[in-house]
Amino acid sequence: MSRLLLVSNRLPVTVKSDKDGVSVVRSAGGLATGLRGPHERSGGLWIGWPGDVSRLTPSQRASVETQLAELRCVPLHLSASEVGRYYEGYSNQVLWPLCHYFIDRIPRQDRDWDIYRRVNERFADLVARQYQPGDTIWVHDYQLMLVPAFLRARLPQARIGYFHHIPFPSSEIFRTLPHRTELLRGLLGADLIGFHTLTYVRHFASSLMRLLGLETVVDRVDYDGREVRLGGFPMGIDAQSFENLANEPAVLEEVRVHRQKSEGLRLVLGVDRLDYTKGIPRRLMAVQRLLEREPAWRGRLRFIQVAVPSRTGVADYASYREKVDELVGRINGLYGGVHNVPVHYLYRSFNEKQLAALYRAADVMLVTPIRDGMNLVAKEFCAARPDEDGVLVLSEFAGAADELGDAVMVNPYNVDGLADALESALEMPQEERRTRMRTLRTRVKEYDVHWWVRSFLDTLESMPTPPPRVEPA
Ligand code: ADP
Ligand code: F6P
Repeated sequence: MSRLLLVSNRLPVTVKSDKDGVSVVRSAGGLATGLRGPHERSGGLWIGWPGDVSRLTPSQRASVETQLAELRCVPLHLSASEVGRYYEGYSNQVLWPLCHYFIDRIPRQDRDWDIYRRVNERFADLVARQYQPGDTIWVHDYQLMLVPAFLRARLPQARIGYFHHIPFPSSEIFRTLPHRTELLRGLLGADLIGFHTLTYVRHFASSLMRLLGLETVVDRVDYDGREVRLGGFPMGIDAQSFENLANEPAVLEEVRVHRQKSEGLRLVLGVDRLDYTKGIPRRLMAVQRLLEREPAWRGRLRFIQVAVPSRTGVADYASYREKVDELVGRINGLYGGVHNVPVHYLYRSFNEKQLAALYRAADVMLVTPIRDGMNLVAKEFCAARPDEDGVLVLSEFAGAADELGDAVMVNPYNVDGLADALESALEMPQEERRTRMRTLRTRVKEYDVHWWVRSFLDTLESMPTPPPRVEPA
């Protein structure tokens, strides 16, 4: 039977061990939350890293393996040095800042490439061992950009898709990378390469032309005797399940409590992984600017920022956390009162019900990344508003901006402009809020995660399988 083999750096669940023992918890991040539902329904396998298991006892490890097998997850374990150099190193200190246009954060020494390459090869070996003829392989994201080519070498006839969950930068940025051509050739091992937006497709095609001399005709590139297709597939969310959640009595009760506890105040919300691409400091500065210049808002505004810890082993994330801590302290010190502080900062993961309650209770949702491949939080907020209320303030630099034109659009680099947008969102008349939210919800519900999976896989499966390679006599 044909199965779907999902391949991503992180599995949808991560092993956590602390003083209370070992548990298998849901992973945060757009990829894991988006593909969890399709995996549950597909009957296939998900191959990826389950997090650090090195400190587990043999019996704890056996229990984790059983739980993963029940979820049809096949673990690829990484050594401490691989975590440091493939995941924290090349993936998150080179490719991540590069694709988000932060090239000054990339270390000058290109030390981790060999390990990145070797781990990509390990992923390909594991996938090839699990593969059965007829399976469709779908590789995800920048941690695994070489996997499609390694797979093509091992399984010439396989149907292989790749999806890039983060921006693909302008070729002017991409061509600064020492290993730029190897990465492009790595991706070209796939039959179909997907991006969130057509801008990213254009950037990728332009890198192919400038660095490999390969021309893209409409959406096709001839490479190594095969045809490779490129496409824009904006990722959606499980909108119906978010809406159902937002209508659950327990969630509605939590919404009531949030509102009651902030009576007389307007609720402004931010929900992100704590990542320097998410624009949290400028967002905080905009809140500060509003309170500074409009004293009438003091004591009438509560900004709740929920930030899930992320990539804590990477130095830039630790200093970013300090910056956010400092700004929160500064604003609360300046504008807080004995009974009220303007910024409620929660540095932890929330479950979906808690998130849905916050989304539904908020007057204004601030999604203001400096750069973001898509941003699913913006879509979750809309799905969680069957009451057709709430205002979404959205960065022009999030992939989601291409689809969610009825949000209040902002340039996140412009702190004054952000403060203006926040104020106009807070003052927006109810009729306008409703009209905008209705349009946003129509888009989010129609182009949901099921549409995304279907459109990517239908395109992939409609492609002819590559002709068998004829070896020279
Ligand atoms: P990214 O993939 O860069 O993390 P997205 O906005 O696309 O950004 O996806 C983030 C996902 O992680 C969303 O599904 C969101 O619900 C989830 N998430 C974000 N912050 C938290 C949090 N504090 N607790 C739990 N989940 C979170
Ligand atoms: O969306 C980009 C992404 O890197 C995903 O691959 C991942 O799900 C998410 O961000 C979280 O990152 P990490 O797996 O490094 O915690």
